[in-house]
Amino acid sequence: MGEWIRHQLGRRPGWMNLLLLFTAFMAFVYMPWDLFVKPAAIDEEVWFGVRFHGTWAKVLEIPHWFVYAAGTVGLWQMRAWMWPWAAVYTGQVAFSMLVWPMVYGEGFGAYVVGVIAGGAFMIPTLALWNARDLFQAKWTPLNERYGEWALITGASAGIGAAFARALAGEGLSCVLAARREDELKLLGEELARDHGVEVRCVPVDLATATGVELLLSQVADLEISVLVNNAGIGYAGRFDKQERGRQEQMVQLNCMAPVSLTAELLPKMIERGRGAVIFTGSVAGAQPLPLHALYSATKSFDNFLAEGLWGELQGSGVDVLGLQPGSTVSEFHEVAGELPHAGQPADEVVQVALRALGHQPSAISGGFNWLRANLAHRLLPRSWVALVARGVVARQTPDEMQ
Ligand SMILES: NC(=O)c1ccc[n+]([C@@H]2O[C@H](COP(=O)([O-])OP(=O)(O)OC[C@H]3O[C@@H](n4cnc5c(N)ncnc54)[C@H](OP(=O)(O)O)[C@@H]3O)[C@@H](O)[C@H]2O)c1
Repeated sequence: MGEWIRHQLGRRPGWMNLLLLFTAFMAFVYMPWDLFVKPAAIDEEVWFGVRFHGTWAKVLEIPHWFVYAAGTVGLWQMRAWMWPWAAVYTGQVAFSMLVWPMVYGEGFGAYVVGVIAGGAFMIPTLALWNARDLFQAKWTPLNERYGEWALITGASAGIGAAFARALAGEGLSCVLAARREDELKLLGEELARDHGVEVRCVPVDLATATGVELLLSQVADLEISVLVNNAGIGYAGRFDKQERGRQEQMVQLNCMAPVSLTAELLPKMIERGRGAVIFTGSVAGAQPLPLHALYSATKSFDNFLAEGLWGELQGSGVDVLGLQPGSTVSEFHEVAGELPHAGQPADEVVQVALRALGHQPSAISGGFNWLRANLAHRLLPRSWVALVARGVVARQTPDEMQ
């Protein structure tokens, strides 16, 4: 825990940690009190030096809350979009503090108060304006951060192929594993041609224990620095209507293969003092998902395993990330037997993962997915969560499987 706190505090200078504390206080304590507890009759809000009262003050507290919430997230994760918006907003506060006493106060004293208050808020404004480089920190290529070779399972399509392209773009040589050899070879040629990296294709069925052993034997001579446990399948429909063999394959592929590969490769990364393990879990693992019950259980397994390992490995030099995509464009829906529906491009999902790697235990791709994964199941009774989810999944499930 101490190591993690030191790492988090070390991500920004001391004055910015204080600012983060302030925005968190405003977002979680002061603004909720202002909005929900303070009587409207005595409520006041100031924007651009103009004072608003009563209902208008209540309405304007909502964007104010969003500003502090965004500031808290932006400072915590040192997001690039904080520049220039944090400085622009603080500049607006400085302007308000300058103008407000002059407009509503009386005499020379009001001007003095305005200049002092406005000047005081110019200090954080200038500091945030000058912090551009901190928010847009230099990116160290992943091959320099972790080492030479990545192993990506499920690399013949979708998110796995997007991972392989992104990692090769970062200078990592790639072991590509999946069942379809032709697809792997095509991708391998593309990676070698476009990025000049080495590629090894391993056609293998990871839904069997022998397949996992075969893959491990094929990489035994390599120092695997980045392991992407991505291969996975879904299986849409009511549990009692599903084939038992396919259910067991899914558990083997989605859960057992990542366990065995990680168990073999992680200790060597720890020994070297660097490396990364990524698990492709899912927002489907954040809550029970009727008509996809077993799949969501396997993804909850992946999500929890990733976050638990992240906690265990603090200070070891090995980064762990649980990627939790929402609906993504790939072959997944068809293979799972779902009706077609929209999704996020796989390369966008992978970018979310690579930006988050080394900074947080898990990453959810997309704001809507974040809300879905966090709000409903934390706030609503379990029965509602399951039944609302059933309604959503039913629209993507063929009638005969419901
Ligand atoms: N797409 C989504 O909406 C979504 C959302 C959340 C999470 N996810 C997760 O993302 C991961 C990747 O899925 P995707 O969306 O990229 O789906 P995809 O396009 O269907 O890709 C799945 C990959 O897994 C491989 N695979 C399947 N069965 C295998 C087996 N028995 N042995 C070895 N490899 C196998 C497939 O290759 P072969 O067929 O060549 O073996 C393919 O490369 C999965 O873990 C999935 O649960 C997907």
